[in-house]
Amino acid sequence: MHSSKHFVIITLLILLSLATAIARTASEWRSRTIYQLLTDRFAQSPGQKNPQLCANNGNEYEIRRYCGGTFTGVIDKLDYIKDMGFDAIWISPVVKQFEKETKYGPGWHGYWAQDIYEINSHFGTANELKQLVQEAHARNIWVMVDVVANHMGPQEGTTPYTAEYLKAYTPFNKTEHFHDFCVIEHWGNDYEVEHCSLGGYDLPLPDLNTENPQVVDIFSNWISDLVREYNFDGIRIDTVKHVRREFWSEFTAAAGVFSIGEMFHDDPYTVGNYQNYMDSVLGYPLFEKIIPVFTNPFSDMGSVSRAVQSMRGAFKDVTVLGNFIDNHDQPRFLSRTQDRNLLKNALTFVLLTDGIPIIYQGTEQGFNGGNDPWNREALWPSNYSQSSDLYQFIATINKFRQTLPSSYFTSLSIEAWANDRIYAFFKDRALVVMTIYGTYDPMFSIKVKTNGLYSVGTTLVNILNCTEKVTVDSYGEVGVRITGDPRIFYPSQEVKGLCQIDKRRMNRKVDRQINIFKFA
Ligand SMILES: *[C@@H]1O[C@H](CO)[C@@H](O)[C@H](O)[C@H]1NC(C)=O
Ligand SMILES: *[C@@H]1O[C@H](CO)[C@@H](O)[C@H](O)[C@H]1NC(C)=O
Ligand SMILES: *[C@@H]1O[C@H](CO)[C@@H](O)[C@H](O)[C@H]1NC(C)=O
Repeated sequence: MHSSKHFVIITLLILLSLATAIARTASEWRSRTIYQLLTDRFAQSPGQKNPQLCANNGNEYEIRRYCGGTFTGVIDKLDYIKDMGFDAIWISPVVKQFEKETKYGPGWHGYWAQDIYEINSHFGTANELKQLVQEAHARNIWVMVDVVANHMGPQEGTTPYTAEYLKAYTPFNKTEHFHDFCVIEHWGNDYEVEHCSLGGYDLPLPDLNTENPQVVDIFSNWISDLVREYNFDGIRIDTVKHVRREFWSEFTAAAGVFSIGEMFHDDPYTVGNYQNYMDSVLGYPLFEKIIPVFTNPFSDMGSVSRAVQSMRGAFKDVTVLGNFIDNHDQPRFLSRTQDRNLLKNALTFVLLTDGIPIIYQGTEQGFNGGNDPWNREALWPSNYSQSSDLYQFIATINKFRQTLPSSYFTSLSIEAWANDRIYAFFKDRALVVMTIYGTYDPMFSIKVKTNGLYSVGTTLVNILNCTEKVTVDSYGEVGVRITGDPRIFYPSQEVKGLCQIDKRRMNRKVDRQINIFKFA
């Protein structure tokens, strides 16, 4: 009797302590908007700044090495992220890397682990990382940590996979923890992709034997402890296609929070299959289709429409996929075109279409680096300007997104218009119109049928400037002027907390100098 009473009390205590660390699920993440940052490149600690480091993005030696960003630096700049309307961050991997350099520099990016139990001291201490998560939570910003289970870091100049070589890793230091040495040469061969090394003969990344039950156990315990110790809200999983699928079921179950994997492939069905093994994946197939369109005024918006449709058939749930226009592995959008109007249309698409938007650090400052390493610029040379046009643009849409009801995030978009230059959709109560005219104004309007979504006479306001309005006519249509700018219409009576300064201005006739595009 006595001991069973104890058992009940202990169980209750355990349940209580679990309840304080709330595990965030896919459906909770659906309405979030994510800012992707690389800890080394986002912000240096206040008081210890070396702003010259990596300030010149033409210096290849510097950009392949540690630039001095820290967890404390991230804390210092959380308000910069919050003011841009983001309520989640994805941070680069936090575990210890080899200090020894390779021909590509050391593992400042975090994808080359030496010891998965230690925190990378270049970024700060374990306590500072915990503090970062706490400070983020205090601002209602959730934190997603990037993790790697496919491989460990490379050691240049040592014969790969010898016992001596493998001894250097923690906790994987035995031959049986790794696959036999081979290098991926045939990318269409699944066995090679899952068992051989990334990085080529040049710099092979020792490939973990994720079929070995001991490796599986170590990883399950590790991810479970990591998430709980630091109170992370989600995990982003690296190199998903290089590990057998069933491994991920166990790994993500042990994590117990939202998981989103990097499955780098352009075929929706190939990628969609992985949503059976984790909550979500990055929307690579959509990315591959939309980028050639949004970066080129002479392409075809119809292909965006077809891509949206083809994603729906291939995924269990497209409303939790991670949508993006670039990241640390892809050339930045503005390296493909300099036209910021095109960028704004692409941003409008990823911020409002079905799925979870992910915006890579530096987009808001108009960064235009090309392939790795040039797309991994330090952010400090921008001075973290909050008045830049793109910063304001992203903030406006993010803040609008946060006022939307949950039905927005669970419903699928409905096509309103698609031709070579224009793509428009309804989603819940919004009408979003994008074009690829860029800086060119074609000077015409279209009549969009609203299919009974709004009653006749309803006024819709473009939340991007709070002044442009259209009214549903007696045919149930709205006339939309077409330019190179995107437009986001919402019933003006239903807009919450937005366009308030505009309304006050009408009521009180306040000074005309007030920036009417800003939110209250
Ligand atoms: C491997 O690591 C374990 C602890 O994780 C240690 O006890 C053991 O001695 C190590 N083996 C080698 C060969 O270094
Ligand atoms: C940032 O500030 C420095 C020092 O005031 C200045 O030289 C630099 O031009 C600024 N950078 C930008 C992008 O405004
Ligand atoms: C509102 O935004 C649209 C699209 O950018 C633009 O064409 C229009 O001129 C703006 N209206 C006002 C009053 O600024």
